[in-house]
Amino acid sequence: MDIAVIGAGYVGAACAACLASLGHRVQVGERDPARVERLLEAKSDIHEPGLDSAVAAGLASGLLSFHGNNAVAVEGAEIVFLALPTPSTPDGSADLSIIEAVLRETASSLQRGAIVAAKSTVPVGSYDRMTAILSDLGADAFVASNPEFLRAGSALDDFLNPDRIVIGTHEASVAEKMTELYRSIGAPVLVTDPASAEMIKYASNAYLATRVAFANTIADICEAAGADISDVLKGMGMDKRIGSHFLKPGPGFGGSCLPKDTRALVAIGSEAGFDADLIASVIRSNRSHTDAIVTKILTVIGNTSSPRVGLWGLAFKAGTGDVRESPAVHIGASLIDQGVTVTAFDPMVTKPPAPGFEMAADAVGAASQVDVLVIGTEWPEFADVELGPVADSMRGTAIIDARNIINQQDAEAAGLTYMGVGR
Ligand code: UDX
Repeated sequence: MDIAVIGAGYVGAACAACLASLGHRVQVGERDPARVERLLEAKSDIHEPGLDSAVAAGLASGLLSFHGNNAVAVEGAEIVFLALPTPSTPDGSADLSIIEAVLRETASSLQRGAIVAAKSTVPVGSYDRMTAILSDLGADAFVASNPEFLRAGSALDDFLNPDRIVIGTHEASVAEKMTELYRSIGAPVLVTDPASAEMIKYASNAYLATRVAFANTIADICEAAGADISDVLKGMGMDKRIGSHFLKPGPGFGGSCLPKDTRALVAIGSEAGFDADLIASVIRSNRSHTDAIVTKILTVIGNTSSPRVGLWGLAFKAGTGDVRESPAVHIGASLIDQGVTVTAFDPMVTKPPAPGFEMAADAVGAASQVDVLVIGTEWPEFADVELGPVADSMRGTAIIDARNIINQQDAEAAGLTYMGVGR
């Protein structure tokens, strides 16, 4: 099939490379010329495992191409995917202005009967808004909702092996064509109305955020009450109705989706006259959990003069260099605000994520002369660092492991005082 993908961020680039690998012709439109240049050399600035080689294969097969002009990219496309940012506005609702601008830019170049499918997470009602814009512009095109469920760090695998494909449309012919596009993937397809498809994305991310906030709340209670969260979660997860996935305690959920989508869901509810207090409290609970870790660190620091903290990990989770809404960065920035010197190391983040961060060249360097060592991201290599030399180079002895990845016995054997989450 002839496909266009507008937006070559991690969602757009991953979708485009995967669709080309399935044999479709994919023209990508991207407004950042530097990103287009890098993609044409299969050297993306997005740290996504397998992405560069999938792009290289697509370019070599001639099926994948990148264009600086969106109107050119949509020419001849039967399906145009929009993989564009929908940032949060100050009231938490999603800002659709980028999508609207692209529709205006491309409407007159769309082929007759083209399907414009929203991959980005868009508020409920966007289908109607996009349909109205295209019709005002005189475009003879259909709109569809086809939300992505890609995780940073496993985007390609998630695209090619999804749990489900959701298609939101009122048109049987659109459902048929979109189903055909994905046929070779062999995943279950749910065809529903556009508003429900748009809602499935928000509801899924809000549920995942709720599980993480729930696990962190139980961890906080365990810590206060003397229980061990690891065994508590093991015991809970053995119940088939609960399962053990997505319940790992940590410093709080972050990233480009869960925080933004939970805020947007509250705003969608409120616009519709509904107070989504459960989701609002998940957001509050997540922030206070992260803040409680900051308080824990400040308590250990006490009135040490010129306090220093080493921070292992800045990315919002392991496997990515993405620091958007990263709890590790929030912890570091809060400490810097309190006058603490923070030296950070992250295998994939080399630039300071915010003003005031000092960057170390490796994990041991980040621990040098610090009063407290904090683990902010669950990079597996942190669990393998030999703790003897780390303890020797530190000024203090405390290790606060916000990801529960360091072996407590090893830390104590190295002379460190270990504090995890929920135990
Ligand atoms: C998420 C959704 O999973 C994906 O379907 C959607 O399309 C985009 O948002 P992503 O943001 O890449 O993907 O991260 P995810 O792996 O879901 O983790 C989100 C956050 O929750 C991270 O901060 C992670 O550290 C945290 N988390 C996750 C936990 O603290 N514990 C867990 O058990 C799982």
